Amino acid sequence: MYYSKDIIKEGNKDLETKCSPVKLPLSKEDEDCIRGLAEYMVVSGNEELTKQCNIRPGVGIAAPQVDVLKRMFAMSCVDFLDENQTQYIFNWINPRIIAASKEMTYLPDGEGCLSVDRDTKGLVTPRHVKIKVDGWIYNYGTRRVTKKTMTLIGYPAIVFQHEYDHLDGIMYTSKMYDPKDLDKDIFPLYTYEEDNDEEASSNEENK
Ligand code: NI
Repeated sequence: MYYSKDIIKEGNKDLETKCSPVKLPLSKEDEDCIRGLAEYMVVSGNEELTKQCNIRPGVGIAAPQVDVLKRMFAMSCVDFLDENQTQYIFNWINPRIIAASKEMTYLPDGEGCLSVDRDTKGLVTPRHVKIKVDGWIYNYGTRRVTKKTMTLIGYPAIVFQHEYDHLDGIMYTSKMYDPKDLDKDIFPLYTYEEDNDEEASSNEENK
């Protein structure tokens, strides 16, 4: 398990360094690292554990953030459509983005990072809406490493791209734009139309 003290912060040159591929089968050292990253995601997904461990929760953490310059990261997604809101954690080793949509998006509140302590709200980072990725997935329970290809859309795609950038030594803070400077065709992710829905139903009632 990694703690707040283990996470290096922006300004540290190691966060701007391209990471090396991980050799498979995993060395003991590399396996300890990916397990530690996975554990950080598990703790992040549980408010009580987060307080107990005194960590800042995150949805992704890359090896270079704990100063291991290897191509691996852990990311977490919650399936909100699932009534139990199951948390899925993917522990990626040597991931690649093999295809990306032309369509771009961004998080309207901007991104955050465990290695960035300042507030960067107001500025956003354009990301592909949809990506196809492959690589190796480390299973925490079985300790097995298996090849995997998957398509990610929306929020999980944004998280993947943020973490993947860490492996190339790229911080999201180097890609930030004022949303008004972006192409009009780039839409923010999570633009709810609840107000319009309400209007539609009240119009119906007025009929
Ligand atoms: Ni980050």
